[in-house]
Amino acid sequence: MTIEPMTAGDLRLALERVRTSVHERLEGADTAKLEALRLDLLGRSGELTLLLRRLGAVDAAERPAIGQLANEVRREVEAAIAERAQELQSGDLERRLARERIDMTAPGVLVRVGHLHPTMTVERELREILHAFGFEVFEGPEIEDDWWNFEALNIPPDHPARDLWDTLYVAEPGSWEAGEPRPAEDGTILRTHTSPVQIRAMRTLAPPIRVIMPGRCFRYEAVDASHNFEFFQVEGLVVDRDTSLADLKGMLEEFARALYGEGTKTRFRPGYYPFTEPSVAFDIGCLVCGGSGCAACKRSGWMTILGAGMVHPAVLRNGGLDPDEYQGYAWGMGLDRITLLRYGIADLRLLMGADLRFVSQFSEGR
Ligand code: PHE
Repeated sequence: MTIEPMTAGDLRLALERVRTSVHERLEGADTAKLEALRLDLLGRSGELTLLLRRLGAVDAAERPAIGQLANEVRREVEAAIAERAQELQSGDLERRLARERIDMTAPGVLVRVGHLHPTMTVERELREILHAFGFEVFEGPEIEDDWWNFEALNIPPDHPARDLWDTLYVAEPGSWEAGEPRPAEDGTILRTHTSPVQIRAMRTLAPPIRVIMPGRCFRYEAVDASHNFEFFQVEGLVVDRDTSLADLKGMLEEFARALYGEGTKTRFRPGYYPFTEPSVAFDIGCLVCGGSGCAACKRSGWMTILGAGMVHPAVLRNGGLDPDEYQGYAWGMGLDRITLLRYGIADLRLLMGADLRFVSQFSEGR
């Protein structure tokens, strides 16, 4: 490209025009327009670039002054472009800030966090305590049949002890529809206690066995503030060589202290269960009155928290184990009453009521 000669005066004028017009030209330019203007002025064949090239053709005497002017104009143009670019950027930012504005003082949206049912909170606590004593959890079905729930536990048909566990029967298929419901012929029932899981544990695991078996149970009960037809138990079972009643006593005493505190008073009374021999009832000092006698402990100063005993030889045999080789102890305790006492709840029926106004008062279990 040939460079047209230009007089020093014309060049000066042209430079001054660029200088005075640049701000006006940049005004309101968006990013794309700004880039186009930059190329128009400073690109390889941009206006200012071409003017600068003409410097060499200017009179040597005039050159220093015009050269200085040219440099000033270039710096000003560059600065003006940079300034506009900056404006555009912070304009973007301001628009974004306006768009994404958050009112930190606005009230939040209430997030409802679920929690465990109080009975399950207590069950987990028992699991934790017994885990520390070396017990694993073993679970069995809520629907059993007569053999597992009764016979395997040394309770033959027509045995009077069956009255203790009056059960809920599953109807023989069709009998309900026919208007004459009768118990299922195959003996299907809802389990009345967690003890049948003892048999399942013995048949599944090899000694030494050390398990707890928590779960839901059912009984044919008249429902009142302290009885329900649906409730929870935690069963415990230890089977090993040389297991004794002394082991059972020590275990349960330590367990009561872990659950209710170091100073907890405990006592054993003789009891009766067809599936343990000997059988005991295990009491703790009344948690309400401390032992002086009140309505909660029927003036006795004691509360029975569980039944226990040495596993009956017939039960070991039904579990597939040789009673000459192994002994064991077992216990069964109700979870619901522990829960009532823990939270000061007066009526057992509330636990099964599914009333959130009640249940959500006991939200410690996550
Ligand atoms: N199964 C008994 C009950 O429900 C409790 C129990 C379990 C007693 C294990 C002794 C041994 O009443």
